[in-house]
Amino acid sequence: MKNLLAKGISAAVILPMVLAADGPMVPDYEVHLLLDPTVVLGSDFKLTPTVLSTFAMPTTVTKINVQYIDTVSEDLYNNGWSCRIRNIENESGFDLTYKWRLPVNNGDINGALNTAFSYGWNSGQGNYNAQIDWLYASQTLSIQRDYTASSKGYSGTDDPDESDSRSMLESNAPNMFNDWVSDNWGTDLLESGVIYGPVLTKRSVGTWNGVELDIEVWPIENSSGTGIDYIVEASFKTDNYTFASAGRDQLITLLQNESWFLADSLSKEDLVMENYHPTS
Ligand SMILES: *[C@@H]1O[C@H](CO)[C@@H](O)[C@H](O)[C@H]1NC(C)=O
Ligand SMILES: *[C@@H]1O[C@H](CO)[C@@H](O)[C@H](O)[C@H]1NC(C)=O
Ligand SMILES: *[C@@H]1O[C@H](CO)[C@@H](O)[C@H](O)[C@H]1NC(C)=O
Ligand SMILES: *[C@@H]1O[C@H](CO)[C@@H](O)[C@H](O)[C@H]1NC(C)=O
Repeated sequence: MKNLLAKGISAAVILPMVLAADGPMVPDYEVHLLLDPTVVLGSDFKLTPTVLSTFAMPTTVTKINVQYIDTVSEDLYNNGWSCRIRNIENESGFDLTYKWRLPVNNGDINGALNTAFSYGWNSGQGNYNAQIDWLYASQTLSIQRDYTASSKGYSGTDDPDESDSRSMLESNAPNMFNDWVSDNWGTDLLESGVIYGPVLTKRSVGTWNGVELDIEVWPIENSSGTGIDYIVEASFKTDNYTFASAGRDQLITLLQNESWFLADSLSKEDLVMENYHPTS
């Protein structure tokens, strides 16, 4: 290498050799399973004491106010992207997430990682996290990047209004998102972004099988906008496939035995995008 440089070979020639060391991204895993709201929630729409004690959860919850920004015709979503803004109780600032998704076909996780690699997602992108979201009957590769934006002028769990939401997402937009289809594709679309949501969710944090287990309750408007559907989702994270797979089987068995299980693969975000119909 020293010799080549000494002979005047430019750094540009060396660079591809360095990049070649990067392969597909290495994901961690999050298992998501749904619970039957008619069984696990009391009349106050809180988790029953039996559910809380099963997962060693306190009665206190963390409120998280979630909204997505997209165009009225959902151009970001239809291109695999989502822009999420969250206000997490007692944390300073808004949490911004740019997330790209690819369905995993028939459990072929490596195939999805290789496809993502061909789109430019590689293990050298340290600011992004790759995760396999493992639902009851489906898996999705999610690649995301997070930022924090100032919540000055807002209080409690309020989310930013439309204009502030647009500008904080535009000013933080990372290149992979912004130039996905063409230069400035992302920020151009955000210019006409509208709010899907907000949904004031509640998270309970417990322990199960030696790892943190969360249960989130999402009150989502129903499709006619005249009532609320409660989505209750249990989830745990791990960095390895073996634990994700075995843990998922064990958790399904436990939930089934308690008659808490809902054998469905609904994604909370998909439901928000389907059921909220902002027009301006
Ligand atoms: C947030 O802070 C308030 C006031 O200190 C406290 O009562 C509440 O329990 C906190 N919530 C969480 C989830 O920590
Ligand atoms: C939405 O909820 C309301 C109130 O519970 C109900 O009357 C209506 O049928 C629901 N609509 C749909 C599409 O589920
Ligand atoms: C797999 O993940 C579990 C839980 O996160 C951890 O306890 C275990 O040590 C991991 N195993 C390996 C081989 O990394
Ligand atoms: C199955 O459920 C019953 C009744 O709730 C409970 O007593 C038993 O411990 C459960 N078994 C397992 C393996 O979770």
